[in-house]
Amino acid sequence: MKPDSDLLDHLLHRRSTPPKCLASPAPDEATLQRILQAAESAPDHGGLHPWRFLVIEGEGLERLGEVFVEAMQRRDPAATEAVLERERERALRPPLIVAAIARRQPGHAKIPEIEQLLAAGTATHQVVLATEALGFGVVWLTGLRVYDEYVMQALGLAADETLIGLINIGTRTESAPTKGKKRRRAEVERWGD
Ligand SMILES: Cc1cc2nc3c(=O)[nH]c(=O)nc-3n(C[C@H](O)[C@H](O)[C@H](O)COP(=O)(O)O)c2cc1C
Repeated sequence: MKPDSDLLDHLLHRRSTPPKCLASPAPDEATLQRILQAAESAPDHGGLHPWRFLVIEGEGLERLGEVFVEAMQRRDPAATEAVLERERERALRPPLIVAAIARRQPGHAKIPEIEQLLAAGTATHQVVLATEALGFGVVWLTGLRVYDEYVMQALGLAADETLIGLINIGTRTESAPTKGKKRRRAEVERWGD
């Protein structure tokens, strides 16, 4: 691959977009496929492919909102209407959510679980980067609902799968921040000189 200063520039200036600043339109089907394809070049020790994605749009987001409400009620039966409504809205802010799922192979002879999880996280970040590269806004979110067993079950996850993020995607609104936050200087020391 030739040196690509645009790619480096993109990495250095990447910024997430708050979910309230993500509006329709979402990427169309062909664009979404290109975005998700970016996951497939994530580094993956042993080629276990320990990730998969669910695309959630339209009615799916309404159903996801319901699931968040039910999960909240199970976590806190005393949750107020306002709290439940906020849970529902979390699913309805962006026009598209990609649920990122990590698959575990516990006790694998060569690839420890931490490496499997790192590969799934890297694949997910490739999706984040590809989304931004194509001009859309995106943010990787989790929160209690993502680690909630009820939510994972409702999304159809198997026992060896974990939800690792809800990638909120959409078109950046005019109110979206135009600049990323100031980045820290990389924390690096030389060792062994
Ligand atoms: C695994 C993971 C989970 C995250 N969960 C949340 C979250 O629930 N809420 C949140 O505000 N940011 C969350 N973030 C951070 C945002 O994705 C984002 O990085 C942050 O808003 C800072 O913006 P920046 O990416 O432009 O630096 C998470 C990031 C990762 C990698």
